[in-house]
Amino acid sequence: MITRVGVVGCGLMGSGIAEVCARAGMDVIAYEVNGSAAAAGTRRIEASLARAVKSGKLAEAAKEETMGRIRLTTDLGDLGDRELVMEAIVEDEAAKVDVFARLDKIVASPDALLASNTSSIPIMKLAMATDRPAQVVGIHFFNPVPVLHLVEVVNSLLTSEPTTTAARRFAEDQLGKRVILSKDRAGFIVNALLIPYILSAVRMFESGFATAEDIDNGMVEGCAHPMGPLALADLIGLDTTQAVAQSLYEEFKEPLYAPPPLLSRMVEAGLLGRKAGQGFYGYRRSAG
Ligand code: 3HC
Repeated sequence: MITRVGVVGCGLMGSGIAEVCARAGMDVIAYEVNGSAAAAGTRRIEASLARAVKSGKLAEAAKEETMGRIRLTTDLGDLGDRELVMEAIVEDEAAKVDVFARLDKIVASPDALLASNTSSIPIMKLAMATDRPAQVVGIHFFNPVPVLHLVEVVNSLLTSEPTTTAARRFAEDQLGKRVILSKDRAGFIVNALLIPYILSAVRMFESGFATAEDIDNGMVEGCAHPMGPLALADLIGLDTTQAVAQSLYEEFKEPLYAPPPLLSRMVEAGLLGRKAGQGFYGYRRSAG
């Protein structure tokens, strides 16, 4: 049973992970690089909890208790006593490797789990940045984390059986999530299927074949998806979508994984989707 969790990165995914852990009663310390990023993380968690209160899923008092279990820090050293640390920073291999190397020195317990929420970077690359690859595992959540039930648990070739079991128990028994087990290759199970689908939609739109609305309505109304592929790309973030596509392309060298030029141009332009207020669609700017 894990009681003390650290979360590195309190953006879209990290704030959701911090929230669900705190709602499950765990003590959470979430790290951000500076005070304003930490404040934005806190606002994101508060907004999500307020939403849960509004829809009657959470009592106002439970919201306060949940916030009371989350502490934001700008000092990674504060994660020293954690039993599980979840890394949820940008989808950038060098940045993640650096975090794992630092966590390896900071997290004191030799039994602690060092987990990554990476969407696509092979876990082995992160494990080898540490002296404890047997304790490194992928625990991959889906956005919005408080709403979607799936977690992919990803084993590298060196992840130990007790680590996999502990990761599974944490997600299933403590967070109430449904776990699927994936081996360690870029994209794991879900993104290896989802990203080429989204990229195909971007290419269809880019070619002028159909409007964004018609592409999305096609999949919502014709296939009962909760949202269309372009709206979903906006939700995930176009920068993350592009980064995941690049990892997949690097791993498999298949053209279907290559980011289309329009996606790259939109990322360069800062049109990153919901979080930026503009992607394939326009949004009212918000913290999350
Ligand atoms: N935080 C907390 N609760 C939220 C939330 C959030 N960020 N977003 C939505 N909710 C809650 C709402 O409060 C609402 O709760 P209620 O039914 O009790 O009132 C419920 O979720 C439904 O929300 P809405 O009524 O606002 O909107 P929709 O019914 O249109 O659902 C959606 C929104 C949940 C985003 C739905 O469209 C959906 O599931 N879309 C697909 C999302 C998806 O595919 N995500 C996976 C992305 S891939 C990924 O994350 C992997 C990464 O590695 C790339």
